[in-house]
Amino acid sequence: MLNETSDAIRAQATGSSKTLNTEASFRDPTLSVGERKNVRPTTIPLLATPPPEDVVQDAHKIASSCNSLEDVRDALNGFHGCPLRRTATNLVLCDGDPRADLMIIGEAPGRDEDVLGKPFVGRSGRLLDHMLSAIGLSRASTDSKYSVFISNCIFWRPPGNRKPTEAETLMCLPFLGRMIEIIDPKFLLFAGSTATARLLNTTQGIMRLHGNWQIYTSPCGKSYRALPTLHPAYLLRQPDHKRLAWRDLMQLKNTISTERL
Ligand code: URA
Repeated sequence: MLNETSDAIRAQATGSSKTLNTEASFRDPTLSVGERKNVRPTTIPLLATPPPEDVVQDAHKIASSCNSLEDVRDALNGFHGCPLRRTATNLVLCDGDPRADLMIIGEAPGRDEDVLGKPFVGRSGRLLDHMLSAIGLSRASTDSKYSVFISNCIFWRPPGNRKPTEAETLMCLPFLGRMIEIIDPKFLLFAGSTATARLLNTTQGIMRLHGNWQIYTSPCGKSYRALPTLHPAYLLRQPDHKRLAWRDLMQLKNTISTERL
């Protein structure tokens, strides 16, 4: 395992395309529980392969002509640029109240989401619902001040729940950007490092950015207040960090409450 890790780190430094299969490490009986907990059970792509430029250009063109959520859904159903759709069961677009003041953006659908065609319906979705309810918000509410709208950076499940590659995210990003403009929320909550890195186009880590309000600029140039926080799936693996997420939620609650006055 240690050899595999250092090989992978070396591969990243030297630009070779080897990947680190952490699934094996996750099950490795020679590791302590603590060591296993720190490893995400996925295959992490170590090299960002740029997506074909024409695919991203197409995605931008198609997305910018969408004027409603249904347009975005239809456009994605007809978009064959992202290879993930071939292995996924369903398109997973969104859930919640499209008139909500708060839009939450996660990473990518997992197995449960793929089956039901809705974001955040598995274990991490249940934790997300608990976190929201602790600050008086719910995806089931129809009052825009207390409801939420939920989507992801990626609209099809990556096989085996692996982390989406940068290329896959860049292909889906124009549709997400257009959806943000259509929903036009007052606030964005970025759940986890993928949403934070991609939407803010930053290499700064989530541990540094979480809890600090940022500005997201949409494809048509509109600014939105965005709060990065830790992903619920990460919190399930690192329950000690729930207190950090709790502080982020308080930050969110205070800002939303001030806006409601
Ligand atoms: N994790 C996510 O980021 N999104 C989902 O929809 C489910 C789990």
